Order: sequence, then C-alpha cells, then structure tokens
Amino acid sequence: MRQSSLVVVANRLPLDDSAAPDGACEWRRSPGGLASALHAILQQTPATWVGWNGGIDSAPTLPDIGTLRLRPVALSEVELRGYYEGFANSTLWPLYHDAVEQPVFDRGWWETYRAVNRRFAEAAAEVAEPGAAIWVQDYHLQLVPQLLRELRPDVLIGFFLHVPFPPPELFMQLPRRVELLRGMLGADLVGFQRPQAAHNVAQLATKLLGAPTISDDEIVVDGRIVRTGAFPVSIDVAEMQALATRPDVVNHAKQLRHSLGQPRRVLLSVDRLDYTKGIEHRLTAYSELLRDGRVKVRDTVVVQVAVPSRERVESYRGLRDRIEGEVGRINGEYGRVGEPAIHYLNQPFDRADLAALYQTADVMVVTPLRDGMNLVAKEYVAAREDGTGALVLSEFAGAAAELEDAFLVNPHDVDGLKDMLLRALDAQPADLAARMGAMRSHLRSHDILAWARAYLSALDHTGRLTEWLPIPAIPRQRPAAVTPPLR
Ligand code: ADP
Ligand code: F6P
Repeated sequence: MRQSSLVVVANRLPLDDSAAPDGACEWRRSPGGLASALHAILQQTPATWVGWNGGIDSAPTLPDIGTLRLRPVALSEVELRGYYEGFANSTLWPLYHDAVEQPVFDRGWWETYRAVNRRFAEAAAEVAEPGAAIWVQDYHLQLVPQLLRELRPDVLIGFFLHVPFPPPELFMQLPRRVELLRGMLGADLVGFQRPQAAHNVAQLATKLLGAPTISDDEIVVDGRIVRTGAFPVSIDVAEMQALATRPDVVNHAKQLRHSLGQPRRVLLSVDRLDYTKGIEHRLTAYSELLRDGRVKVRDTVVVQVAVPSRERVESYRGLRDRIEGEVGRINGEYGRVGEPAIHYLNQPFDRADLAALYQTADVMVVTPLRDGMNLVAKEYVAAREDGTGALVLSEFAGAAAELEDAFLVNPHDVDGLKDMLLRALDAQPADLAARMGAMRSHLRSHDILAWARAYLSALDHTGRLTEWLPIPAIPRQRPAAVTPPLR
C-alpha cells in the first residue's frame, strides 16, 4: 500500500456504491455535507481518504479520484447496526443536536463503536508516511485521534467535528463521556464549526479529566497541549457559481418554473430527510398560511426536496412516514388537479440539477432545529449570481453566524416562521439585493479552500500541508486559530 503525507479519515468515502437500475454496481457521490465539502478540495491533492464505501462486507479496490487515493474500510452488517446506525446515529447524533429526538443509550453498541474506530485508526496508520498528518472527521470517529496517538506517535493528528458539540449538561448524559472526550482530545488540533463548542469542551475537560485549560483554545491533556478553535466549513463557491450560470442550467431552471405552472413565487427547501432539519415545523407553518388564506396555491408554489437518509434507523422511518402523511394531507386539502400545494421530491440530484433548483427558488427556506453548519444555505447564496432571491435561515444553523443578512428565524416559533416567510416573499428587490450582495461577498472570501487552508495551516504552521492549495484570491487577514473570522 502506497503511503501519503496527508491522510483524511471519515466514516464515508466520497463515493457510494449503490445498485444501478439494472442491478450493476454504480458509483455515486456520497450524500451529505462532509463529503460535499472535502470532495471539493481533496481531488487536487496526493492525499489518501480512508472511509466506508457504503456497502456491507465489501472493501473493493477503488480507482483514484484525480490525485486522491481511496482506501476503503469494510463494515459488516452487525457493525453497521452497532456503530453507524446505533452509537453514531441513535446516540451521538440526537444528543449532539440538542436532543431534539431522544438519544438511545444501548450498552451493546459501545463495544462495536470502539472496535470500528480501532479499524479506521489502523487503516489510517497503515497508509500514513512517517511524520504525516492525519485529519479525522466527525462524531463517528471520535475515538480515532487517541488510538492513532498510541499507534503512530510520529504523526500530526487533526480532528474536525462537522456537527454541533453539545452544552456540558447534555454531554454529561453520555454513559461513555470520559472515553469520548479523551478520544477526541488525542488530537493536536480539534476544530469545530462555532467557538461555543470549544468553550464547552474546555469546561468538560476540566470537569471530567481534571485537565487544566490555558484558555478556551488550549487544554493541557497528559502534559500535552491540545489546541481547539472554530473553523466554519464552507462550499466550493466557484463551482456552484459556474454551474448556476451555465446556459443549460439556466434553461433547465426556466423549464422547471414552467413545469411548476409559472407561479409568481417559488419556495424551495432541500434537506436530507432528518429530524434535525425542521421539515415538520415548516410544513405546519405552510399549511397554516394556506388555511388562513395568507398564501394561495396557484400564486405560491412549494418545492420540498427530501433525500432519504439512514433509512434503517427507527426514528428516521417514523419521520418519513409522518412527513409523507402530512404532505399528502396538505395536498389533499389545498391542492387542485394539476396544482399540488407541495411538490415533494425524494430523489438525489446531481450538482447541475441542484443549481437549477436554486435558480428557480425566489425564497430558499432552510430551517433546521439544530445544524452544525448547513451547506445548502451557502449553496443557494452562491447560485444567486444576479443577486436576487431571499434566504430564510434558522438561527440554530451554524451558517446563521456568517449569513447574518438572511431572514433569520427561530423555527420552533411557528407563528414567527409564518411571518418571516411572508416577509421574505414580499420583500422589496432593493432590500433583497443588498442582503444577497452582503452574503455573497462574505462567501467569496470564506469558501471551502479558505476553510481547508485555515485548518491545515493551524494544524501545521510550517505550511507544508497547504502547499497544494491554490493561492487565495484575497490576502490572508490573520494566521488563524479562529478563522475564517465570524462577523
Ligand atoms: P448534512 O450534512 O446534514 O446533510 P448540509 O446542508 O450541510 O447537511 O449538506 C447537505 C449536502 O448534500 C449539500 O451539499 C447538498 O447539496 C447535498 N444534497 C442535499 N440534498 C440532496 C439531493 N437530493 N441530492 C443530492 N445532493 C443533495
Ligand atoms: O454533516 C453530518 C453528517 O453526518 C456527515 O458526516 C455526513 O456527510 C452527513 O451528515 C450525511 O450523513 P450519512 O453519512 O449518515 O448519510
């Protein structure tokens, strides 16, 4: 096995194997924010990405993507249940998202989570050249930094959490809280989406490990300084802009509007089908606006894209049933022949189709109950080259700290959400242009390359990890423990 100087370890590889209609194996870009973000930058580096390929008991040899090598990790059926569906997505995921769904504490899952984390750590250790940097991603692999430190004391270890880190009183509920905290703090640099997360971890380190803190950003663990900081993840802004202005995409957007019946206004939401995304609250708000006659079906069309996710987990199955029932009810009650109130799409789309959808939307509605970042909000802004369009954005998405000129809303407050939807629908073009202009200008200098550069140059100050990244279009403002700066 060839070795690399930069190794990324994430639960998923950027490609998923899914069955094609004829039953053959077909490779598709993996769903979700993490794969979108890292895929955008890593295809330009001679790095290795260690991860699961989406299948069961299979670790096929995969072709490189550009200069990026892929190293699959096999998971068995039992491991998928205990590690991915169990501990990662039924215990940590709900707990880290404010427990908007009840976390499940099943003692049987822990051993599997630990064993799978060890397998990922061993795979990464095997492909890392001497003195390499290993960058571990997300809550699925929270024990990997400490395991790597034991296996490969010579490497630099980074960890980035894409989801929120919960307040101490929630984290304290975890039966395995000490191991999980120690596991993550095995890294040299722990990155989060928001500064509050670093503050929470510093408090917990003192309380649970007796680890002294030099500041919120520096914790002393076993005599070693662990640095932490906020590095808000972003998107490939240039890619989305280029897609949104491609003539075929612009035409497709026009056709979409035509197919929707040339309504005066289109509202769009694009989510993984996840209970953190606030889809049910949104449907309630829209249904009440229709009931009260504040919006009319013919005039205002709603498109909800909801790509199925984690389908074998009970809470996700229940959510899908509830959402589909509610969409059916709303369409039954308010739709007309050939004019549904809600256009509900369950399918994955390619990037160009997503760009066309973003072009079609007068109002983009992104209202998660809690979200580490939410890249869809950023993609919409990047796609609005002409400065039109309104973004209604939850205060509880990490993106709200950066996209302050969105129509910010508390999605738990359904009346407030209804009012904000109407405000966005009725806003004056000059107001919209000013808001969109400010958000676009922020995104231009805070794209995915800026994120990678900020994180990797903080991990290794010598600059060797960022040599392959293109030179920034704007001068760097500061060396960055907390970068890109939050306004
Ligand atoms: P999460 O990481 O929780 O899934 P994000 O909004 O941060 O949420 O990222 C979602 C990513 O998945 C975005 O890059 C978005 O474009 C992509 N995506 C969402 N829905 C679809 C879909 N139906 N088809 C293809 N990609 C999708
Ligand atoms: O953003 C959080 C996250 O878990 C990512 O790690 C992942 O890309 C995304 O959600 C999709 O989830 P899954 O990999 O479970 O389909």
